[in-house]
Formats: sequence, structure tokens, C-alpha cells
Amino acid sequence: MRSFAFRIVTALTLATTPLLTHSITALGAPKPREVLVYSARIEKLIKPMFDAFTEKTGIEVKYFTAKEAELFERLKAEGSHTPADIFITVDAGNLWLAEQAGLLQGFDSPVITKNIPAHLRAKDNAWVGLSVRARPIMYSTERVTPSALSTYEALGAPRWRGRLCLRTSRKVYTQSLVATMIKTLGEQRTEEVVRGWIANMRRIFNSDTQMLKAVAAGQCDVTIANTYYLARLTVKDPGFPVTVFWPNQNGRGVHVNISGAGVTKHAKHRTKAIQLIEFLSSAEAQNLYADANYEYPANPAVKPNTLLLDWGEFKADTVDVAAAGALQVAAVKLCDRAGYK
Ligand SMILES: [Fe+2]
Repeated sequence: MRSFAFRIVTALTLATTPLLTHSITALGAPKPREVLVYSARIEKLIKPMFDAFTEKTGIEVKYFTAKEAELFERLKAEGSHTPADIFITVDAGNLWLAEQAGLLQGFDSPVITKNIPAHLRAKDNAWVGLSVRARPIMYSTERVTPSALSTYEALGAPRWRGRLCLRTSRKVYTQSLVATMIKTLGEQRTEEVVRGWIANMRRIFNSDTQMLKAVAAGQCDVTIANTYYLARLTVKDPGFPVTVFWPNQNGRGVHVNISGAGVTKHAKHRTKAIQLIEFLSSAEAQNLYADANYEYPANPAVKPNTLLLDWGEFKADTVDVAAAGALQVAAVKLCDRAGYK
């Protein structure tokens, strides 16, 4: 049996509750004025919004953070006995899989309909995007002129031979990128594009941060990465010699994904759980949520952090991010065929 090292944090009980490393059921069922969250996002990214929610409503938010796969398995194993009311994780592919596994339930909400565009959530709100993560092209400011760049597809052109670094296709970020390309371009064209990338590949990485450092160090010249990784590196070193290129601006736009939340199938506090997700979608919480990790608000009425505005505004792909889940298997198979490890 796997041991779950959940960090148990609530504003009120942190000081008095010993760290439990075996079973969260030892905590007992949440009290009526509580809502309980399983979060694959770390504490510092979620706590400020939960505190704001508690202050506004008096409802306490109890939460457990762990790796996505651990929380997923835990929800499955607990079934109807789960104490979790909400599941928070990153990537539409992961949220879609949780929905397919029967771990989430939909709900009607005029607030969510108003705040979050339809392509960033499940049709029945079984999961709802709460921040947008852009995955554009990034390039060396020392060895690449931006006029050489245009689209994701064009990274397969001969001029990039031996100059491209990419994240492994085993990462859900890559799978979601390829899946949404399949949705828009079709399988055949997407495979041509991916084969072009592989022909130009210098090296495959297991980490966006390592990949960006490799571009800075001259190992490769161009890559595709999530902007918050570059933001973190740039905050540490304002002279970091890599910047963003927004691709496909005359076409479908930049690939975006989400972090999001869903009400669990067996939530004991369904109404409060919906209330919390609605709050997280509101203008009041969206900046807190997005800024915590240099992401973009999912609510289009909210402006992004000024640090992100330095890279300029961009047109984002409005393909339904559910495609990241529905076409994930097709994307994995396509990458295998194309030799994308
Ligand atoms: Fe990430």
C-alpha cells in the first residue's frame, strides 16, 4: 500500500493538528461549515484564494496537496467514502480523465457561465478552468531573430535542423498540445508536423525549466514551453536570454491549457463546493489565482499580471480544451509513430 504524505493545512488547525502521513480519514468528516479540497497544486498557489473565500463567507477550506496521480488514485479508491468535495489539478487532459473515471459531477451555474468561456470547461461543468497556461514558442534572444519564427508547424522547417529542444511526449503538456493540433489540423497533418519537429530535434527534456536553461546556455535555440517557467527564471535573472514568441497569430492562435477544479462525485458539501469554485472564477479571486504562478486569468474580464504584459498580448487558441482529453490516446500513438520519445 502506497503511503500518502498529505500536507494537512487549514488556517485554524495548522498549529494544533499533527502531520498525518497515513490516512486522511483519521480527520473525520468535514464539519458543516467546511469544504474539503484535494489539490495537485501546491499550498502557496491555492492558500491565498482559500483564505479570501473564508474571510468572505465564513466557510473554512480544508485541503490536502499531493501529486496528481496520487489524488486521482485516492479518489478512485475512496469512492463514495471520500471526504473530498473538490478536486483541483492542472491540464485539461487530467481533468477530462477524472471526469471519464466518474470522479466528478456536473452542476448548473449562471456565475460560471458568465465568468468562464465555454471552451475552458466541461459542457456540464464537471470541471472548470480557473487559470490559463499558455505554451508558446520560446527562443534565444542571442541567436534567433523573431522574424524567423511564425507557427508551431514551421518549427519543422529545415532552418531549425539540430536547433530545437522539446519536452518529452510522455508529459501531459505535450500530449495536450498534440491532441488539440489533431482536433484542428487532423491526424495526418499533425503527424507531418511532429515528424518535422523530430527531424530538427536537438534534445528531449523532462522539464520545461531545464529546457529553457538549455536554450539560454546555447544547447538549442528554440523550444515550446509554458510561460510561467520563463517568468520564474526571468524574475530570478532579468537578463535571462530567452523570450516568448506568440505563434499562429494569423491562424488558430497560441496553444493554451488550464488548471481547474471539479466537484467530486460524492461531495458531502456540494453547495459549498460550487460556491468555492464560483468564487475562484470571480474577478476578486482570478488575479490571486493566476498571479500565484504567473498564469493568465481564465475569466476574460480580468487583466493579467503586469509582468506578463511585457511579452505583449496574444491571440489564444479557442479550441475546446476537452480535446486534450478526448484525443490524448490518439496523440500518444501519433508521437510513438513519429518517433517522439
Ligand atoms: Fe507545469
